[in-house]
Amino acid sequence: MIVTLIGYMASGKSTLGRILAKKLNYEFLDLDDYIEDKENSTIKDIFKLKGEIHFRKIETQYLSELLATKTNLVLSLGGGTPCYSNNMDVILSAPNAKSIYLKASIPTLIERLKNEKGKRPLIAHIETDELLAEFIGKHLFERSQFYSLANVTLTTDNKTEKDIIEELVLLLF
Ligand code: S3P
Repeated sequence: MIVTLIGYMASGKSTLGRILAKKLNYEFLDLDDYIEDKENSTIKDIFKLKGEIHFRKIETQYLSELLATKTNLVLSLGGGTPCYSNNMDVILSAPNAKSIYLKASIPTLIERLKNEKGKRPLIAHIETDELLAEFIGKHLFERSQFYSLANVTLTTDNKTEKDIIEELVLLLF
């Protein structure tokens, strides 16, 4: 099986994905890390040097490639992956795959992203916490229509990593 983890930036996709993969004895891949490896560049530099449109194009290509070739994989996607091109269709129609939306509340996301803006080109330029909160609110609203198509939605606020992983395993099998 391939488990795809979907959710906004800082929703815990990579941290939880790594733990889940270990528990299931699956391979773990983070799509952003995979892209950085393959392109020999950072996401930040890809955005800066080649632009977001180029990033979205290669993101779609690598996503399709992984879903078509891998098995026994936990794959953490980028926050925007399900929202561009026909990626959500590709995710939902991949054989033997399950998609999980890790749903964190806006206050939780704001709190986490306040301190993690630097490596995220979409929010790195936002100067104040108020503007960041406004951006996240609107952005998440737009993206929720894609995230909510996932096979399963799991709320994560006020839950420990251990609880979330246990819930995930129950939902998957
Ligand atoms: C993005 C999220 C990032 C990365 C890129 C764009 C987005 O991944 O793919 O900076 O559009 O939300 P994370 O969700 O892992 O931060």
